[in-house]
Amino acid sequence: MEQIPHHGELLRALAEEAAQYSYVPYSGRSQGVILLLSDGSYVRGCRVENASFQLSIGALDNAWSTAFAIGRRDICAVAASEPWSLADRAFLTAMPAFAWTLPSDHVATLTGEIPEPTKAMQPLLDSGIQEVGHGASLARNVASRAWVPESDFPVGSVVQTVSGLCIPGVNVEHPDWHRVLCAERNALSTLVAYGFDSAKDIFVSCLKEPGGTPCGACRQVVMELAPDATVWLDRVSQPPMDMQASVLLPGSFSGRGLHRFDL
Ligand code: THU
Repeated sequence: MEQIPHHGELLRALAEEAAQYSYVPYSGRSQGVILLLSDGSYVRGCRVENASFQLSIGALDNAWSTAFAIGRRDICAVAASEPWSLADRAFLTAMPAFAWTLPSDHVATLTGEIPEPTKAMQPLLDSGIQEVGHGASLARNVASRAWVPESDFPVGSVVQTVSGLCIPGVNVEHPDWHRVLCAERNALSTLVAYGFDSAKDIFVSCLKEPGGTPCGACRQVVMELAPDATVWLDRVSQPPMDMQASVLLPGSFSGRGLHRFDL
């Protein structure tokens, strides 16, 4: 019998709660993950599917990238609503800075003793966005939290919701490039996991390529999760350039014929 660490059951219950936020119109398979940080605060992630199946974001990747986007890398335990998949085990063990033990099918830890989960983190920036230049500069600042051992190419994003909440996103890389999450997708999957209101503006800043634009994968995900949003591209010394999501990906695959489950 594997030993589940103290607080492991509570973490798992929180992961089951996180699973309820999943966006799974194509499979109906909800998944939630909780990351416990060293001071007892925790962040969550859920499964966020995409009509282009391979762009779906797993709960672990979602939670992990959320922690990095708020500048927290002091993850000491991970709990999941579902038993770890082989892919999740591979994700955890490949993260070079961490040497995980998997004491149970649902919990992974770095140390035997973990703090009590006491505080649900709100993955939001303190500041609101006054004008679009400010949004672009926030995205630029957030990019310093990117985890880019593979590319050394930091990207920052800030999604502003209709009610004015500001959600940060950075690119978080992994030795398996299939598991790299871009900054824009990071922020949008956080929005889903926390049940925040709709995205109104998506600010993006590529520090090393000031003329950069979102990749195709992000365009497809933006079309699914934030089709009415305006994407603002940081141009540093010039005002940010705006593009509607539908302009970024004309004729995108809608997946309407794929829906099998009620949202
Ligand atoms: N990247 C983003 O974060 N957003 C984009 O829209 C373009 C690409 C990241 C992914 C990867 O970490 C690095 O930039 C190189 O592609």
